[in-house]
Amino acid sequence: MSVVILAIETSCDDTSAAVVVDGSEILSNIVSSQVDVHSRFGGVVPEVASRKHLELINYVVSESLAAAGIVYKDLDAVAVTYGPGLVGALLVGVSAAKAISYGLDLPLVGVNHLEGHIYANFLIEPGIAFPLICLVVSGGHTDLVLIKKHGSYQVVGSTRDDAAGEAFDKVARAMGLGYPGGPLIDRLSREGDPGAINLPRAYLEEGSFDFSFSGLKSAVINYMHRAAQRGAEINKADLAAGFQKAVTDVLIDKTIDAAVETGVSSILMAGGVAANTSLRAGMIEKATKESCRVIYPPPVLCTDNAAMIASAAYFKYLRDAFAPLTLNAVPDLKLGEERYEGNFRGKIM
Ligand code: KG4
Ligand code: ZN
Repeated sequence: MSVVILAIETSCDDTSAAVVVDGSEILSNIVSSQVDVHSRFGGVVPEVASRKHLELINYVVSESLAAAGIVYKDLDAVAVTYGPGLVGALLVGVSAAKAISYGLDLPLVGVNHLEGHIYANFLIEPGIAFPLICLVVSGGHTDLVLIKKHGSYQVVGSTRDDAAGEAFDKVARAMGLGYPGGPLIDRLSREGDPGAINLPRAYLEEGSFDFSFSGLKSAVINYMHRAAQRGAEINKADLAAGFQKAVTDVLIDKTIDAAVETGVSSILMAGGVAANTSLRAGMIEKATKESCRVIYPPPVLCTDNAAMIASAAYFKYLRDAFAPLTLNAVPDLKLGEERYEGNFRGKIM
């Protein structure tokens, strides 16, 4: 018997709902982006994001069912991102999912947003064998995670300051490129020479799998200030390419080192920055030399979307890991942690 899950994702600035069968067959994946609303502020404004989610959520959920060609009674469960993320934004999705769960007496599955990013890989290859190393690189997180079985996460490295996506966004903003910065820098870099401008790479202590990108960000900003003081023109494509190479070199080297040290031969990539063309190509090139395999989702499944939440929810459904109707938004939820009590299949106890 197949399991049909409706998933809702509203942790940041995308309002998304998806219908996925058995964790990998995507019947619909509706993403309503708020990027136009936030780009004029150069970043996500939390209060504006919550209000927009509230306006959009019912339409997006209805659209996900219509596009999937199903009705509410065809569902087996409803899943929702309950953290980490912006608390007001998360609350909209959590409230909508709880209402659907209560109204239709459907089990409720609470999903960690980062777990969702990781499971975007299972949408494209449901039977990926463990153990795995996953590089999770998004606007809010940069983590290297060792995964030995479904639902078990050991974070072996994390950023000590800016997340990789945050560094892309801040550098793009400083360069006057716009928001979000990752795709813009990715595109501009193709016209630049990554070796033209010398920028630092923070490898930290020997053997550490942690990351640091704030020094690199400052180096780019200082480079622009010095050029402005001299009245010199800067080559933006070279600067973008140099910055991107400095970020991706460290991400690739540490991921491969972590895989080798833990004896893992499958590497997953997840999160918005995993859409980066130079990161993908560089990771494959280096992994191949170490006889490692690299798996990553297509770009639309790397950035925030509800299909990835449905995939993570499917594996929780199989483990009977359901949330109670007291489920709340948890803005600082950690990977592998649950912040609700018991296992209530959507019932209030
Ligand atoms: O995973 P995501 O959609 O949202 C969060 O959970 O944060 O990631 C968004 C981040 C943004 O910082 C964006 O600039 C970055 O992913 N991003 C990219 C690319 N596409 C999106 N960064 C580098 N290259 C890209 N092609
Ligand atoms: Zn995300």
